[in-house]
Amino acid sequence: MMPEEIPMPAELTDAPAPVAADDAVRAAGAPADAPVVFDVDRLSVLYSGFRAVRDVSLDVSKNEITAFIGPSGCGKTTVLRCFNRMNDLIQGAVVEGSLRFHGVDLYAKDVNPVEVRRRIGMVFQKPNPFPKSMFDNVAYGPRLAGIRKRAELEEIVEQALRGAALWDEVKDRLDKSALGLSGGQQQRLCIARAIAVRPEVILMDEPCSALDPVATLRIEQLMQELKSEYTIVIVTHNMQQAARVSDRTAFFSVDVDAASGDRTGELVEYDRTEKIFSQPSDSRTEDYVTGRFG
Ligand SMILES: Nc1ncnc2c1ncn2[C@@H]1O[C@H](COP(=O)(O)OP(=O)(O)O)[C@@H](O)[C@H]1O
Ligand SMILES: [Mg+2]
Repeated sequence: MMPEEIPMPAELTDAPAPVAADDAVRAAGAPADAPVVFDVDRLSVLYSGFRAVRDVSLDVSKNEITAFIGPSGCGKTTVLRCFNRMNDLIQGAVVEGSLRFHGVDLYAKDVNPVEVRRRIGMVFQKPNPFPKSMFDNVAYGPRLAGIRKRAELEEIVEQALRGAALWDEVKDRLDKSALGLSGGQQQRLCIARAIAVRPEVILMDEPCSALDPVATLRIEQLMQELKSEYTIVIVTHNMQQAARVSDRTAFFSVDVDAASGDRTGELVEYDRTEKIFSQPSDSRTEDYVTGRFG
């Protein structure tokens, strides 16, 4: 499946796209021509007034895998959810700062969050297939988008399942319930469901944490195959996984205010993955990646 370059659809926004800032620090180590997909600038998220994470600035490059690592509660999921406006669905969540997608402010008033979530898909920690047939799971998004012809849906479902490296295992039983699949197969089905609507970006929040090592390896291989067509941002608590699969790594930590005891997530360091794991600039990153961290 080779989706052609998708132009910014009119439904996403009418505003002219400003040129993304060329920030040498944030795109550390990036080849000069690596197109920036997301430009995050001083992003903070509050839940009912509690500042969960503050001042995150980073760029995500096209056709790369960007990993978010760090201890539990440092805001990885919170930041990831900002990338397709999933925090909109959480009552009391407030996003500050800016998050640009191809130069367009994702939080601008005229941006349609439904279209944002079509272009920027998400795969969750626990595989969450619908209690429907495999076919209906993958055809769900395309049907919502108005595709009705059986032959057309069959083509899309096959392409998506091939893209998710699941086709050969399920092609003879597409009408069977998705709930009968193994955990690893269910997660690949969820990836197929995500790519069936031809997104440009796939966000993954600890996609392997409920899987055994073999299924995990399969998903990691799949991510390598997918990155030629998609930009991937993955949250993982597994440092080895980040080191194995990602091109860039963002290390988050929790800052505890000495006076108030308030815990706030922050981005400590962001760089090429090999640099983060071999020569990190910040001692907190080094402590974490070498396992000295609590
Ligand atoms: N829906 C929510 N409502 C209130 N607080 C939340 C919510 N989601 C996360 N938090 C809080 O925000 C902080 C960051 O959480 P999270 O982004 O889930 O961290 P991580 O994914 O790094 O473990 C934590 O203190 C967590 O308790
Ligand atoms: Mg999380």
